[in-house]
Amino acid sequence: MLVLVLGEGASAVRCVPGEVHVWRIELDCAGTSLSALAAVLSQDERKRGARLRSAEQCQRWTVARGALRCILATYARSEPRSLALQAGPHGKPELVGPGQDIPFNLAHTEGLALLAIAGSGRVGSDAEVVRVGIEMEDMSRRFFAPTEADEILALAPEARLAAFFACWTRKEVFVKALGTGLSVPLDRFQVTVRADQPARLVSVAWDEPNRWSLVDLGEPGVAAALAVEEPAPVVRRFNFVPPLA
Ligand SMILES: CC(C)(COP(=O)(O)OP(=O)(O)OC[C@H]1O[C@@H](n2cnc3c(N)ncnc32)[C@H](O)[C@@H]1OP(=O)(O)O)[C@@H](O)C(=O)NCCC(=O)NCCS
Repeated sequence: MLVLVLGEGASAVRCVPGEVHVWRIELDCAGTSLSALAAVLSQDERKRGARLRSAEQCQRWTVARGALRCILATYARSEPRSLALQAGPHGKPELVGPGQDIPFNLAHTEGLALLAIAGSGRVGSDAEVVRVGIEMEDMSRRFFAPTEADEILALAPEARLAAFFACWTRKEVFVKALGTGLSVPLDRFQVTVRADQPARLVSVAWDEPNRWSLVDLGEPGVAAALAVEEPAPVVRRFNFVPPLA
C-alpha cells in the first residue's frame, strides 16, 4: 500500500487505461485536518454537511468530500476547491471542467471511505461494515436474483453472513458504476455470492459480463468491492493522509 500526502500544490498522479486506483480514507481524523478539509468544500457542500443528523456524521462527510476533492485535484492537475462536482441523472457525482473525463466513485461506511478512480471505463465502489441482526432471508429474497438468494440461504450459518455482504457489495458496485442506483432491477444481473469465491459478474441481461471486472476490497469487519468496465484491471491501492491546517 502506497501512502501519498496530498494537498494544494501536490504533484500530479496519473491513472492510465487499464488501471484502477483505490484510495482508503479514514474519516475520523484530527481537528486540524478536519478544518483543512472543510476549507476546500464549496458553500453548498458545507450546507449539506450541516444538515446531517449528528456532528459525527457531519465531520465524517466533510472529511470524505474534502478528501475526494484533494485526491481528484491531483489527477485533474487543479486545486481542490476549484473543482466543479455535479450530480448525474441518478445522483452519481462527476467532474465538470478540469478532470471531467476522470471516472471515479466514492463509498463510505461509518469511519471509512473508499474512492476508486479508473484510467478508463465506468467505475463503482462500495463498502459496508458487516453487521449481525440483518433480516438476511427477507432482504436476499427482496433484493437479489432468485439463484443468488437460494445460494446464500443454503449456506451454513457461519458462511451466510459473509456471503450476504459479499453479494450486496458486488451488486451495489455494479449499479454504482452504471450510475443508475435502483432504477436497474437488481435481479437482471448476477454476481458470485460466496465470500471465498472471486468476485465476478456472472450474467447481465443487457450486456456482455466479461467486459466488466469486480474486485473485492474487504478488510476485517468490512465488506467492500469495486466494479470497473475493464476486463483485466491492475489495481493500485493508496492511503490518503489528510493535510494539516
Ligand atoms: C447512492 C447509492 C447508489 C448508494 O448508496 P449507499 O450505499 O447508501 O452509499 P455509498 O456510501 O455506497 O455511496 C454514496 C456515494 O455514492 C455516490 N453516489 C451518489 N449517487 C450515486 C449513483 N446514482 N451512482 C453511483 N454513485 C452515486 C456519492 O459520491 C455518494 O457519496 P455522498 O453521499 O458523499 O455524495 C444509493 O442511492 C443506491 O441506489 N444504492 C443502491 C442500494 C442497493 O440497492 N443495494 C443493494 C444491492 S443488492
